Amino acid sequence: MATFTRTFPDGFIWGAATASYQIEGAHDEDGRSPSIWDTFSRTPGKVLGGDTGDVACDHYHRYAEDIALMSDLGLDAYRFSVAWPRVIPTGTGAVNRAGLDFYSRLVDGLLEHGIRPVVTLYHWDLPQSLDDRGGWLNRESARWFADYSAAVVGALGDRVSHWTTLNEPWCSSILSYAIGAHAPGHQDPLEAMVAAHHLMLAHGTAVPVIREHCPDAEVSITLNPSQVWGPEDGDERDADAVRRADNALNGLFFGPIFHGAYPDGFLDDTARLTDHAFIRNGDLSTMSAPLDNLGVNNYFPTRVRAARNGEESTNRMPGCSSVVETDPRPPLTDMGWEMSPESHRLILERSARESGLPIYITENGSAWPDTVSEDGEVHDPERVSYLHGHLEAVADAIENGVDIRGYFAWSLLDNFEWAYGYEKRFGIVHVDYDTLERTVKDSGREYARIIAEHHSR
Ligand code: FCB
Repeated sequence: MATFTRTFPDGFIWGAATASYQIEGAHDEDGRSPSIWDTFSRTPGKVLGGDTGDVACDHYHRYAEDIALMSDLGLDAYRFSVAWPRVIPTGTGAVNRAGLDFYSRLVDGLLEHGIRPVVTLYHWDLPQSLDDRGGWLNRESARWFADYSAAVVGALGDRVSHWTTLNEPWCSSILSYAIGAHAPGHQDPLEAMVAAHHLMLAHGTAVPVIREHCPDAEVSITLNPSQVWGPEDGDERDADAVRRADNALNGLFFGPIFHGAYPDGFLDDTARLTDHAFIRNGDLSTMSAPLDNLGVNNYFPTRVRAARNGEESTNRMPGCSSVVETDPRPPLTDMGWEMSPESHRLILERSARESGLPIYITENGSAWPDTVSEDGEVHDPERVSYLHGHLEAVADAIENGVDIRGYFAWSLLDNFEWAYGYEKRFGIVHVDYDTLERTVKDSGREYARIIAEHHSR
């Protein structure tokens, strides 16, 4: 195995990440109500193999064991998300103490082991009762989210200082309302724009609420920007396709959140769909509330070209009906995602330029078809090489002047990979879904080695 020898700045945070619906299970315990993912995963044909998060990794019951595992790996920090339907089962209104208590126990356990909790308030499990009221298409969702945030930060803010409002609002809007691959599974580009707008409004409305309940809070949002590349020998139509895809993937969020405006051309490109009446006076200033850092989740670049004369594009991203996505270039992970450390570096540099903020890589990792070998171990050399390549890119970006404060491996555990169910394994720790036994993979050991070496410097 190639060795990894790069060094990182003092105080660099090494972590791993998960999300509530993907690992917790206990879907109907202690007052938790259904989320849009409970509904979606029960809808035939939406999730591979008909898998659901009913049991997942059973982390709700095994969190103490999982904290011990994190401690063995030497993690400085653990990024997890809170399930809104546990905390406010009816979406708005009464707070469920039992739900909050779970997170309180989790936080205490982490702190006892010297692991910093990094909490995401929304990682996609919207209470179903709120979707019944229109979900993110309802402008009231901004207030719902701010009230829910107040309940969580009010309960944990004495022990948690690192708060993230939303995980990847691109997925909660474009992937969920235009492409339809994620809950609630709609296929309408206009709805996706409205949802994106309301998600950013929810984020911006929650930021001051978080600060009010936790004056020392470091407040953040996690985006999933992707480097967009066109054909090397492309013409100006291809350049336009790159611009449109970049707006729909990146500018749609960088613009309102960091520049107080939608990106150049985006409103014109989408004028055929809408008069944008959902954008009201004052919204953009709410959305661009100052933050303390930016979380970046990044896995792969995006390749596009322009649709040629008469060619039908199936692209449902807003403003992208003339854009065709082209094949990723090998090597590919088990998700079919292109492995490109270079695109990782470029997107980190871009994220820092756009935001002007310190960056945390809040997710990065790869899926491979792992199995437990006869020796009882999980040998995953591909994940090790993905990890090395992407950490090299992080080190390069830091050398190029980007203020990167930490890296969180996705994921601590194999887990429910959304529309792919349990088919795709991203963990640095293997989970046997029959016995729920955890086995640290070779990549987990290598990550622990890199962390220990960093700590010993
Ligand atoms: C990200 C999600 C995370 C996980 C990884 C593979 O988009 O935030 O929950 O599914 O992809």
